[in-house]
Amino acid sequence: MAIRKKKTLIIGLLLVVLIAFLAWRFFRPMNIFVVSKAFERPVSTADMPAALTSLSANNCAFCHREFYAEWSTTIHSHAWTDPYFQVDWRFDGKQQICKNCHIPLDRQQEQKVLGFHDDEKWQPILEPNPAFDAQLQHEGVTCAACHLRNGKILGPYGIETAAHPVEKLANPNEVCFKCHVVSGNRWDTFFRAPPCGTVAEIQSTPGSTKGPPVAALTGQIGKESIGPGEGSIDCVKCHMPLAERSLVAGGKVRIVRRHLWRGGHDPEMVKQGLEVVFHEAPDSSSGKRSFTLTLTNTGAAHYLPTGIPDRHLTVFIRLLDRNGAVLREENHILKRTILWRPFIIDLWDTRLPRWQPKVFHFDVSPGRDPTATAVEAQVQYHLLDENRRRRIGYENKEPIAYDLFRARIALEREKTN
Ligand code: HEC
Ligand code: HEC
Ligand code: HEC
Ligand code: HEC
Ligand code: HEC
Repeated sequence: MAIRKKKTLIIGLLLVVLIAFLAWRFFRPMNIFVVSKAFERPVSTADMPAALTSLSANNCAFCHREFYAEWSTTIHSHAWTDPYFQVDWRFDGKQQICKNCHIPLDRQQEQKVLGFHDDEKWQPILEPNPAFDAQLQHEGVTCAACHLRNGKILGPYGIETAAHPVEKLANPNEVCFKCHVVSGNRWDTFFRAPPCGTVAEIQSTPGSTKGPPVAALTGQIGKESIGPGEGSIDCVKCHMPLAERSLVAGGKVRIVRRHLWRGGHDPEMVKQGLEVVFHEAPDSSSGKRSFTLTLTNTGAAHYLPTGIPDRHLTVFIRLLDRNGAVLREENHILKRTILWRPFIIDLWDTRLPRWQPKVFHFDVSPGRDPTATAVEAQVQYHLLDENRRRRIGYENKEPIAYDLFRARIALEREKTN
């Protein structure tokens, strides 16, 4: 009897502990990513090249005008001022860690990071930063964020110039990894790929782990041929298209990479990655007419869409009458679905891995839908969804969704006059 009582008591206690733990997880959700060495602290600018009077992009622009003009059009230059980021950052409690990728240079931050209160490095020990530069902060992912290391300017050539010391960059893609690979590996997180894990996605997408065939590399300019096994993770190839021009006015003409980094904010870039085929299936027996919409990620090595888990596609196939009114509609969502609390678990992922077509079918029977005159397909890209926009209080000036594809197929009636 006594033993049984003791057993019940122990089980009871364990249950209480478990419930308390889960409740705590609900109110204090887990950190969504692991802070790694690569970005735990801001980049030190203590040994900035003596030849440069300032680290501002405006200063680089003085000599590298076209690079500056391109960079200015990109979200990298708005990584701090971006209104969606600002609202989200405040909503999340203005964590310091966010700054290490969105404004990575120490001078871009009001406070210095001296160390950490916790092992997970989410609670830095801070002190006011006398070198803080408010104008530089507004430049977000500025030139020096990618190009400054140990007092030298990293570049692909290793040119000797009096303008500034230069260090040769072995693999330009490594520049991207620092911020675009956020790890999620911890005992209590079950991400298939961590958030913003473009590189992890590329590595785990079947068919895209192979590098380009050797033949494709020979005969190409030297800088195109990167090390073996890294061919598939060639971010710059797709995100920094080639051009021929000089680096400085009147300088030697070289093959350069345009500083464009297009992504979800640019409909043309997303369209470039997506192939959409909408047609009537030729064999339609038993009076039914069948339509298919096929989506294939033909242009992105990672998933489409990729990036933060807010990004998603919606697909609508609808039946319309002669006035354009919707008679019937089917919709699908292509998204990463994550359970955030009490544990972080990647539930399912319906986005498009590279080269794996997704087919949606839609049937129409004249008997069932006598007034139908057309079938319409619409594919939309969403930067974030409407519920989340409202929850965080983001008053967007730019649309948060746009059309990637929209087309109608008329249902010609058989010889009705
Ligand atoms: C997001 C990272 C990033 C930012 C920001 C950035 N660059 Fe670059 N830049 C690179 C990479 C990567 C390369 C090497 C590309 C290659 O393989 O040729 C490069 C190359 C260059 C080159 C050599 C020419 C070439 O294309 O190879 C110049 C000059 C240059 N950058 C200037 C600038 C200036 C000026 C700014 C700011 C206005 C800037 N960069 C911002 C990543 C960046
Ligand atoms: C006073 C002019 C001047 C300024 C200011 C300047 N550069 Fe340069 N930069 C040069 C010259 C000159 C070259 C060599 C061009 C050549 O020989 O084709 C060069 C080369 C480069 C290269 C290519 C290096 C290589 O060998 O791969 C990069 C990258 C670069 N600069 C980035 C920057 C960045 C980033 C800034 C601002 C922090 C900056 N530069 C500021 C003049 C300047
Ligand atoms: C210092 C950190 C950092 C580095 C290094 C970096 N990025 Fe980014 N990148 C960001 C941040 C932060 C954003 C998002 C800014 C925002 O939307 O607020 C971003 C956004 C992007 C986007 C998305 C554009 C869009 O429309 O949403 C692309 C594409 C991109 N980066 C490509 C690259 C490539 C390629 C490299 C390597 C040459 C690179 N980045 C290096 C921090 C970085
Ligand atoms: C084969 C071409 C290709 C390669 C290689 C590639 N990308 Fe992309 N990337 C695209 C296309 C196309 C899009 C737009 C569609 C999408 O969002 O998937 C895109 C979108 C993005 C975005 C936008 C996400 C957002 O939230 O808006 C980021 C960030 C990005 N890529 C980063 C990278 C990084 C980092 C690498 C290297 C590890 C890389 N990409 C390699 C083609 C490529
Ligand atoms: C390891 C680097 C890194 C850290 C740390 C980081 N970000 Fe980002 N963030 C990125 C990159 C890279 C992108 C753009 C590509 C993408 O969509 O994945 C981005 C994009 C975003 C976007 C989308 C912006 C847009 O215009 O669509 C938001 C919002 C954002 N980050 C918020 C945050 C917040 C809040 C934190 C801190 C809790 C944070 N980030 C920490 C790298 C980082």
